Amino acid sequence: MTFWDQMTSHWQEISAELEKIRTKNLYRQCKVSSGIDFCSNDYLGLAKSGLLEEKMKENLSQDTLGSTAARLIKGHRQSMEDWERKFSEFVGAGASLSLANGYVANMGLIDTIADSRTAVFTDRLNHASILDGIRISGAIKKYYDHLDLDHLEEQVSKWDRDPASPGKRKKIIVSETLFSMDGDKPDIRRLVEIKKKYDCVLILDEAHSFGVFGKEGRGMCFEDLSREEMDSIEYRVYTLGKSLGLEGGIIATTELGREHLVNRMRPFIFSTAPMPMIFTTASDSLDLIRDMEKEREHLLHIASILRDGLAREGFSVSSTVSQIVPILMDTEEEALYYSAELRKIGFDVIAIRPPTVPTPRLRVSLNALLTEKEILSLIEALVVVRRTKR
Ligand SMILES: Cc1ncc(COP(=O)(O)O)c(C=O)c1O
Repeated sequence: MTFWDQMTSHWQEISAELEKIRTKNLYRQCKVSSGIDFCSNDYLGLAKSGLLEEKMKENLSQDTLGSTAARLIKGHRQSMEDWERKFSEFVGAGASLSLANGYVANMGLIDTIADSRTAVFTDRLNHASILDGIRISGAIKKYYDHLDLDHLEEQVSKWDRDPASPGKRKKIIVSETLFSMDGDKPDIRRLVEIKKKYDCVLILDEAHSFGVFGKEGRGMCFEDLSREEMDSIEYRVYTLGKSLGLEGGIIATTELGREHLVNRMRPFIFSTAPMPMIFTTASDSLDLIRDMEKEREHLLHIASILRDGLAREGFSVSSTVSQIVPILMDTEEEALYYSAELRKIGFDVIAIRPPTVPTPRLRVSLNALLTEKEILSLIEALVVVRRTKR
């Protein structure tokens, strides 16, 4: 077979695969967003804030635009170290390491600390970056049912008792502290208890709780845990692309943990460092976040108005505690229909479908710039769309 014949069959295969995706209503397309924002992760509205934009312009003139190389070559800056120190102090960690985004933070972290002799216990609904980290590391993946920590404990103790699993192998437990697609949370204190009882490493992903929960927006760990409990967690992962209004990921750990990642974490070692102004602006963003108590209160207030209103109108809303309010749908087609109709009348609400989540839904995520009136108009719009549905 010639080269061109092979190319042809390759593209044929790909077309067939896309066709299959289309027929299952799972086809995806990038769309320019329009309408009132009910889908971003800009929970405090900082990405749109002129204030942060001004700071960024100032920061831009302080350094080169691009970092010009990986941190271990020429990409490192004092401002990066300052940002990491400031962030560590804010979240009560010994040290932190910044990465290009939250995806590589999770993926690279797990790949660095796990190997084929490690068992990683993961909530079934953890983010793809966590699951991909487990896959790439070659570790043994052990799912536990979503938020079911009895199931987790059962799995961990079974693993310890299994004569086929040599006792000294490393065990890692990993969970989000606020689930991105469900808006619910695990019992973090119990996770820490299990971690201690069975001598596991614990990774908590604070991506969606940072900025919204905990004292001054420090995250869910600050909401639920004592200082001693928090110190027993080996790694906490945060993103800069949600409440901080920027882009990036950061891992909070100990000095030793950071030193190890700097020496071993491939996406850190082999990738150009983010633009220096990201770090200086993240530092400005942190200053803003800590004083946004009013915005946090408002955000959780409008979330409860939305949840109550939807439940009253008979929509299937999962029992969330947060600014993320998923409306469960029977089929992918139904989720797509609602999203498209809402878009036509000025509401930007996104349909989330498998494989991102097991059940199709509209993932409504709120931000502090939304008004009560806009929340009520979304509820009304959903009722209208339901009426027009065939
Ligand atoms: C829980 C969680 N962790 C990590 C990430 C990845 O972060 P980033 O978007 O910065 O790559 C996401 C993305 O939405 C997420 O939901």
